Amino acid sequence: MSKESSASMQVPVIAEGMTLGVVGAGVMGQTLIRGLLASGLIDRQRVWAGDKNGGTCERAAQELEIPVEAEFQRRVPTADLILVCVKPNDAPVVLSTIRNAGLRRETLLISILAGVSTDRLEALLGTDNPIVRAMPNTPCVVGEGMTVICPGRYAAKAHLERATHIFEAVGQCTPIDEIHFNAITALSGSGPAYQFLIMEALADAGVRVGLPRQLALTLVAQTALGAAKMVLASSRHPAALRDDVTTPAGCTIAGLLMLEDGRIRSVLARAVEESAKVAAHLGAAPAKISETASGHRAGH
Ligand SMILES: NC(=O)c1ccc[n+]([C@@H]2O[C@H](COP(=O)([O-])OP(=O)(O)OC[C@H]3O[C@@H](n4cnc5c(N)ncnc54)[C@H](OP(=O)(O)O)[C@@H]3O)[C@@H](O)[C@H]2O)c1
Repeated sequence: MSKESSASMQVPVIAEGMTLGVVGAGVMGQTLIRGLLASGLIDRQRVWAGDKNGGTCERAAQELEIPVEAEFQRRVPTADLILVCVKPNDAPVVLSTIRNAGLRRETLLISILAGVSTDRLEALLGTDNPIVRAMPNTPCVVGEGMTVICPGRYAAKAHLERATHIFEAVGQCTPIDEIHFNAITALSGSGPAYQFLIMEALADAGVRVGLPRQLALTLVAQTALGAAKMVLASSRHPAALRDDVTTPAGCTIAGLLMLEDGRIRSVLARAVEESAKVAAHLGAAPAKISETASGHRAGH
């Protein structure tokens, strides 16, 4: 959905006099709050967060200048929308806490939990509240996030539009069939980490050929940004864009051949494949988790 179409939408993100709650004020919870506040979509006075960790509450409240409390239950009945941002393993506890705190039937829940299907979220919540499942990423904090969303059984078009509105305030947002969520978690959810690793490695390479580190990092990051914008703005295949800068017998083809010798394509493909396998196990019921090889507690 384009920014223009969502901007013209009549559905308010939060109903008059109601609040937006964020449960789980860790990396992603804070990222989304920061991005949403910076976008101006929601007033600071109408946002609250909850986290079970007292230290996190204190730090986040100070930095975000919103209420962040361990005892957030009393705020649940005021919420028109709740973003659930805890680790997948914490879903059972947090969803029953929200339900038992006087959750209104109309309140929309948006879950960003990797690997936890809408069926499982609905079963854990045990009500017929509308639920939207989302997979955002950390560049939401600078307004360049990539988020996909899909509706649960009780979510109507208007709920999906509200979710779109939220995530378009912090980047791009696309509705997608839930069947693709584990693959997307591995590609764009975890994607910023891959990009950071690649940029770090390229900056090291710059240092290897004699550049000061900070200059190397700036060159690498701005080059990544420029290349990404070219891919997004162009209808051409990345291979065609690459050919444009590959002079016969030049230095670019020399570098590219070394990357191919290092099997960069298959390494990246295997990394995403492995990540998608882990994503598929993250939201499984406890009995299933113990059957997995890794039994990860990690959320991402
Ligand atoms: N990180 C990413 O790039 C990314 C991207 C897309 C989606 N996600 C998804 O986002 C979710 C959160 O990831 P994250 O990286 O933000 O994790 P995180 O930094 O660990 O944040 C989760 C927070 O929730 C708190 N929490 C746990 N149980 C709670 C409860 N019952 N009530 C209230 N708060 C509770 C945790 O406290 P404690 O630390 O004390 O447990 C922690 O502060 C995960 O499900 C992940 O799959 C992450």
